[in-house]
Amino acid sequence: LAGMLGAGVAALAGCDAIPSTSPVQGQEFDRPLAIPPLAASRLRDGVRVFELTAQEGRTAFAPGIETPTWGFNAAHLGPTLRAARGEQVAVEVTNELSETTSVHWHGMHLPARYDGGPHQPIEPGGTWRPTWRIDQPAATLWYHPHPHGATEEHVYRGLAGLFLLDDEYSRAASLPSEYGVDDVPVIVQDKKFDDAGRLDADSEGNEVGLFGDVVMTNGTVGAYHEVTTERIRLRLLNGSTARTYQFVLADRPFELVATDGGLLDRPVRMDSLRLAPGERAEIVVTMRPRERTVLRSEDPDLGGVAAPFAFGGNDSFDVLQLRAAERLNPSPEPDWQYEDTGLAEAEATVTRTFELQNREINGLRMDMNRIDETVTVGTTEIWEVTNSHPVSHSFHIHDVQFEVLPVDGQAPPPELSGRKDTVYLEPNRTYRLIMRFEDYADPDWPYMYHCHMLLHEDEGMMGQFVVVEPGQRAGEVAHHH
Ligand code: C2O
Ligand code: CU
Repeated sequence: LAGMLGAGVAALAGCDAIPSTSPVQGQEFDRPLAIPPLAASRLRDGVRVFELTAQEGRTAFAPGIETPTWGFNAAHLGPTLRAARGEQVAVEVTNELSETTSVHWHGMHLPARYDGGPHQPIEPGGTWRPTWRIDQPAATLWYHPHPHGATEEHVYRGLAGLFLLDDEYSRAASLPSEYGVDDVPVIVQDKKFDDAGRLDADSEGNEVGLFGDVVMTNGTVGAYHEVTTERIRLRLLNGSTARTYQFVLADRPFELVATDGGLLDRPVRMDSLRLAPGERAEIVVTMRPRERTVLRSEDPDLGGVAAPFAFGGNDSFDVLQLRAAERLNPSPEPDWQYEDTGLAEAEATVTRTFELQNREINGLRMDMNRIDETVTVGTTEIWEVTNSHPVSHSFHIHDVQFEVLPVDGQAPPPELSGRKDTVYLEPNRTYRLIMRFEDYADPDWPYMYHCHMLLHEDEGMMGQFVVVEPGQRAGEVAHHH
């Protein structure tokens, strides 16, 4: 393996101590960024139908090394699904793995029976056929397995992809929008390899989870992207199982244009943004001809805890190089101002509290046969989520997009503005999330809320809620499996 995953990494291969230098410092950017293909779809009676097959394969992360990996319709990662608001979509998900998996549509508002969580397992050889109407604003969503107790491993092996939604606002916005050219997916993940070039899935007793010493973008180690336009839009997904990134451009600010659930009311100029596992952000970078710059992750401010497995105490490394061409095609400047679409705190009629500690939420570990919360459809609620643990967590709620309310009069930073479905929880802090539960009342099928640090999720830091009609009670979930 030595020498094959890049100079910096070579120095670390086979080393079992905590790395003392960043493996990707001095990284050669010698491989073009892989762009996940747009998934083919066919129209069947007005329904847009996609096919995804979870399969095993081999991937050459470095020349001459074949690493066993998992992917959808490919050896590693999956195609980008894309659909427009108002469309009815269907996905035929086939499992060709030798173990049970599932596919969850992270960030999607859809009926719980099609949510793809632990209650919708797909057995080896089986096919699952969810169908729903896209009924939410344009956004960068993603999909990944969610089998109870094995999510970390399935995502880590490579099962993940983007699901892009479009609408009239995203089409009209002054934004670079040519997929793969100036509108580019950036799925950032860290991995570890053993001496034989296999993925090492051992978290080595680290409480937060699995930390790798090789960082890859869309599965490419040492990636560069040729920029041919004055502005480039990067759709950032933290697809890691545990690591939190603090993204910066080496030498310039950028415009933050969207967070998890879609476009912000207006673009915000920023220098740095933090993204925890599961979170997304869309940024626009401006370049001049022939310039080069680098998307990096700097030692993150985790809110008083040190970055676990930091490289030499400083968790900083390069992620993706951008290389501008000799001549750049003009791009629009991101510029819009929507009316404030936020939910009013006064509309909230229910407040719930959640305390995260160890691997528990409100003192309980996940039980697939227990419904923790029953929500009435049409209600606006505030969820007060407290991390009372000296360790980072990342809180994700299925079905809804929420907004992060100010705490103690302190407005959240721009990357927590807009519609969110996942939020980094600093230790010893409370976050107030406001959300409205619309549609799809069904007492029998739960949605999940959980820590998106996938080791924590697998170990039980997860709960279940159902959405019901007024006066209705939660049903029995035990019969699903
Ligand atoms: Cu991205 Cu419940 O997960
Ligand atoms: Cu956690």
